[in-house]
Amino acid sequence: MNTYETLTHDLATSPRTWLITGVAGFIGSNLLETLLKLNQRVIGLDNFETGHQRNLDLVKKIVTASEWAQFTFKRGDIRNLEDCHRALEPGVDFVLHQAALGSVPRSLEDPIRTNSTNIDGFLNMLVASRDAKVKRFVYAASSSTYGDHPALPKVEEHIGRPLSPYAVTKYVNELYADVFARCYGLQTIGLRYFNVFGPRQDPDGAYAAVIPKWFGALLRDEPICINGDGETSRDFCYIANTVQANLLAATTQNGDAVNQVYNVAVGDRTTLNELFSLIRELASAVKSELKDVTPIYGDFRAADVRHSQADISKAQVLLGYAPTHRIAAGLEDSATYYTAHVGKHV
Ligand SMILES: NC(=O)c1ccc[n+]([C@@H]2O[C@H](COP(=O)([O-])OP(=O)(O)OC[C@H]3O[C@@H](n4cnc5c(N)ncnc54)[C@H](O)[C@@H]3O)[C@@H](O)[C@H]2O)c1
Repeated sequence: MNTYETLTHDLATSPRTWLITGVAGFIGSNLLETLLKLNQRVIGLDNFETGHQRNLDLVKKIVTASEWAQFTFKRGDIRNLEDCHRALEPGVDFVLHQAALGSVPRSLEDPIRTNSTNIDGFLNMLVASRDAKVKRFVYAASSSTYGDHPALPKVEEHIGRPLSPYAVTKYVNELYADVFARCYGLQTIGLRYFNVFGPRQDPDGAYAAVIPKWFGALLRDEPICINGDGETSRDFCYIANTVQANLLAATTQNGDAVNQVYNVAVGDRTTLNELFSLIRELASAVKSELKDVTPIYGDFRAADVRHSQADISKAQVLLGYAPTHRIAAGLEDSATYYTAHVGKHV
């Protein structure tokens, strides 16, 4: 058994209590699904700013009634310290902090709202977690922290200047987590996610991520726009890998692994042109007329990083992280989900 298989086996026989913030969102609801299936007790906090009740309803349909009974939802806002304290009821072992406003373009449109959620809200969660004496605070950091550093693949200790307000907020999260570890002894681990994708990622709205947006557009016969020449590349990471990293980070017994940040990705690099071909092939298996669709090329997006690829060896060595899905396998699962759900809302 590898580290994660051993962990899931051990967890299933010894329930712990977890708080997931942003539980109604894409990553949060996938963490919820996995933890409930592992017989864990879960408290979830969300204000539905970008998350959806339908994500919670879908998890409820997937798990058993007794697993669902282990879940307590608390509606609340991380910008309100009282709500954070309320979510951290006595006995919470681990916090998986996902609540934030994602999207570089959104942060360019509204830097103040991004700042208050991603920095003030983050600080509130740190304070509440410290006061509740949780065992560990694991949080969603971001590959955007690499900013304008040109090196590929990205290695944790070499970061550049942030290219957007969103990137600033995610870097400040790392600084605050580090200070709370040193000043208050709170154990923290930051996970720098690289373009996560998979079921329940929102295909709608102005700030939708590229994979759900393209599945949604193709299945609704809408045009596909590629920002720039399509040679922009990313290390797309399937959600199962991200969930694995969170559970390993929360529970690792390796003292050297704590109070660190880690890349969470696969270590691959896929261009937008390659991504388009992969998604078109999967969508045309459902609607054959899509096989001849071609994208429209537009301007490059402001503040976008040109290439991104992770070195994942730190997480492999210190956490025992072993990604199970490369992009093709993840896209297949995603295609099944979007085919069943686009335009149907549950
Ligand atoms: N998806 C990615 O590719 C990616 C990449 C890097 C980092 N991240 C980070 O991962 C985390 C989760 O992202 P996601 O893709 O699941 O996004 P998401 O928008 O689906 O989920 C975020 C959740 O946080 C909730 N939320 C927002 N503001 C809140 C507030 N003030 N109080 C309480 N809840 C609030 C939203 O309602 C939503 O349910 C975020 O911190 C994001 O910055 C995501």
